[in-house]
Amino acid sequence: MHRLLRLLLLVALPLPPGGAAAQSVQARDDGIEVERGTATLRVTALDDAILRIQAVPQGRLPPGEPWAVLPEWRGRRVSVRPDAGGAGFATRLLHVTVDPATLRLGIGDAAGHTLLAGAEGGTLDVPGGGFRICQHSPPDAHYMGLGDKPGPLDRRGRAFVNWNTDAYAWQESTDPLYKDVPFFMALHHGAAYGVLLDSTWRSFFDFAAERRDAVCFGGEGGSPDWYFIAGPSPKEVLTNYTALTGHMQLPPLWALGLQQSRWSYTPQARVEEVAAGYRATRIPLDAIWLDIDYQDRHRPFTVDRGAFPDLPGMVRRLGAAGVRVVAIADLHIADLPYAGYQPYDTGLAGRHFVRGADGALFVGQVWPGAALFPDFARARTRRWFGSLYRTLYLDDGIAGFWDDMNEPVVFDGPDKTLPLDAVHRVQEPGVAPRLATHREIHNVYGMLNAEATAAGLAALAPERRSFVLTRATFAGGQRSAAVWTGDNSATWNHLRLSTPQLLSLGLSGFALAGDDIGGFRGSPSARLLTRWIEVGAFEPLFRVHSEKGSAAHEAYEGAATEVARRRAAIAERYRLMPYLYEAAEAASRTGVPIMRPLFLEFPAAGLEWVDGEFLLGRALLLAPPPDERADPYRLVLPPGTTWFDYRSGRRLPEGSVMLSPDVEGLPAFVRAGAVIPRAPLVQSTATAPEGRLELLVYPGADCRGDIYADDGVSRAYRSGAFLRQHVACERAADGLHLIFSARQGRYVPWWQGFDVVVFGERAAPAAVRNGEAAVAARFDAGDGTVRFGLPDLAAGGEVVLVR
Ligand code: GLC
Repeated sequence: MHRLLRLLLLVALPLPPGGAAAQSVQARDDGIEVERGTATLRVTALDDAILRIQAVPQGRLPPGEPWAVLPEWRGRRVSVRPDAGGAGFATRLLHVTVDPATLRLGIGDAAGHTLLAGAEGGTLDVPGGGFRICQHSPPDAHYMGLGDKPGPLDRRGRAFVNWNTDAYAWQESTDPLYKDVPFFMALHHGAAYGVLLDSTWRSFFDFAAERRDAVCFGGEGGSPDWYFIAGPSPKEVLTNYTALTGHMQLPPLWALGLQQSRWSYTPQARVEEVAAGYRATRIPLDAIWLDIDYQDRHRPFTVDRGAFPDLPGMVRRLGAAGVRVVAIADLHIADLPYAGYQPYDTGLAGRHFVRGADGALFVGQVWPGAALFPDFARARTRRWFGSLYRTLYLDDGIAGFWDDMNEPVVFDGPDKTLPLDAVHRVQEPGVAPRLATHREIHNVYGMLNAEATAAGLAALAPERRSFVLTRATFAGGQRSAAVWTGDNSATWNHLRLSTPQLLSLGLSGFALAGDDIGGFRGSPSARLLTRWIEVGAFEPLFRVHSEKGSAAHEAYEGAATEVARRRAAIAERYRLMPYLYEAAEAASRTGVPIMRPLFLEFPAAGLEWVDGEFLLGRALLLAPPPDERADPYRLVLPPGTTWFDYRSGRRLPEGSVMLSPDVEGLPAFVRAGAVIPRAPLVQSTATAPEGRLELLVYPGADCRGDIYADDGVSRAYRSGAFLRQHVACERAADGLHLIFSARQGRYVPWWQGFDVVVFGERAAPAAVRNGEAAVAARFDAGDGTVRFGLPDLAAGGEVVLVR
């Protein structure tokens, strides 16, 4: 069982009365097609690791959805090796069998090990519409994914619904929330596979909740169309999944800095006051957010000129202080005929709004009052919507945009959204046009809103990297926008919940994710805000946000001791920016998330710590206290790796350590076998650090780290204006070797050289040599470090700490 992944899918079809249904098996170049009675099941190998499985109770297989899977996969196939008996095939990694009598599907590894016994309970035809698929679930299998569902990261024993919902005041037990990411990863004895259910309908996932031995998933409409994604490592599953559904775009560097938001900073002077508050207290800050009250009566794409008499001037002044401005621009367009409101006028002229089943324009209440809803299922409508950002983006200088309320929310709609029978026009390049009900489009609506925004910004300023934040989304939505977890609450429990939520988003393709730091609803105590900032400083997105009427959430407000701790946490994030940025850049190419559960790096280590601790990148382990108490708590370290305390640099004992919540900021550790780049402190990423790049070297097995840099704002990195350098370390008979690869790319960095700190050394090296040259080094017996400077080794090189 160990190395093998065994999966069996059973699609149980009721037998027609009076005997067995007619069966036929057709081997195809790229898979297999089986007919049984009126039903058809087809398995297609898109590549060696990815299978697409489609089935219908009768008729032809539908073409599939154009939303989650990248269009380049539409025609992608690999040739397979058919089994001698005809009822199966193999790719280089997977072996597939189908039992024509039952349409049972088995998937195993390429060695042909036949896999688990299957579960009953699947059906292609649920009464009332839809389908259900059941797989056998071994008792010790674990399931992760489905985006930011609250609660434990391991979904085993629970059942979920996917239906994008404005879940204001959501709690741990709330389901569904804002997003539908119908993707999960199964983990069994360290081996993983992924499943993407490519269905936009309301969907259901039951992870051995109803029956301990079965995982079932299904949709309220349509027929099964799903993807099996091989690992076997969890990282390979994510790499394959994001190859299929797309990667996040590399964000602008400022989007990784501290972002301060509130509903709402107004008027203009208040926005400038907040920025000044950060600068005056020497707390780094990169962005301030404008929520709906900067707009004229909450009308998207307008500005309240009374409160913001000179928006471009304000943006320019803040920009000079290194602070970007991000603005909300919700999708609902105010219903304002003959008012000179351009989004309404052009939207109506272009027939861009959703209509009800009766053919009349659908009008519903949202922030601006009566509003219309763009039909984002149409590519033309998305292009029109994207063009609405022109003034805010190009003239006013707004740096990024916030797509909210895009489940979509309709205050007076049935079930607080569009009527399920409202009509969308699916008009996509390469796809046959058709009409679809809102019931079918609902779950993908928010993602298409964000796609419209991101594509619009790219069209307006092709050289600039864009930044978009969305609340609702769907599988594949990572391509266009970062996400946050919506309206959480200012409680210790919500702080605790944020870690598994963000980890789950990372495991669901969304590497760039955050939560409202400090809690959206309610007023955090000063300590809660401090702790939340300390945790958030190590999360992918670092955005403080709060509701109207709540107490101050700005880091500089409150008692000096609290402010000092927040400043220290935020400063540490800024110093670690080179490390964080490299992790973001890697995520944008590989799909391996920035924030990682331990099992992603240590698949064999089990899931015991899964909800509390997390890794930032490959090397940094964070261990937030479990609650508000000041009691010591135990951190169990993954076995087989040595760990260092990040702050003291000391090596930890094997096994576990006791931690105290309130000593020196959030407990942080580094695995042996890592090289971490760190920069001198700046108050904004708009300022290049001055001096040298620090390289923290923690010798151990597989010792490595990467340096990545570019201009942080443009897309020129795609055509060579970047810098990548690999640093490895290796212990040999003659001493410790640091191996610098030659730099790739033509970007010229800000640093003039490296300051190296090697941790965990027991004795002073006899010498340190950079090639032939001797390097002056300092050994500190107290903390076991060796420190020395190096020139900027652009062409690569090898440095030896001679024994
Ligand atoms: C929604 C958002 C929240 C925002 C508010 C006003 O509740 O989730 O973040 O502040 O709307 O725009």
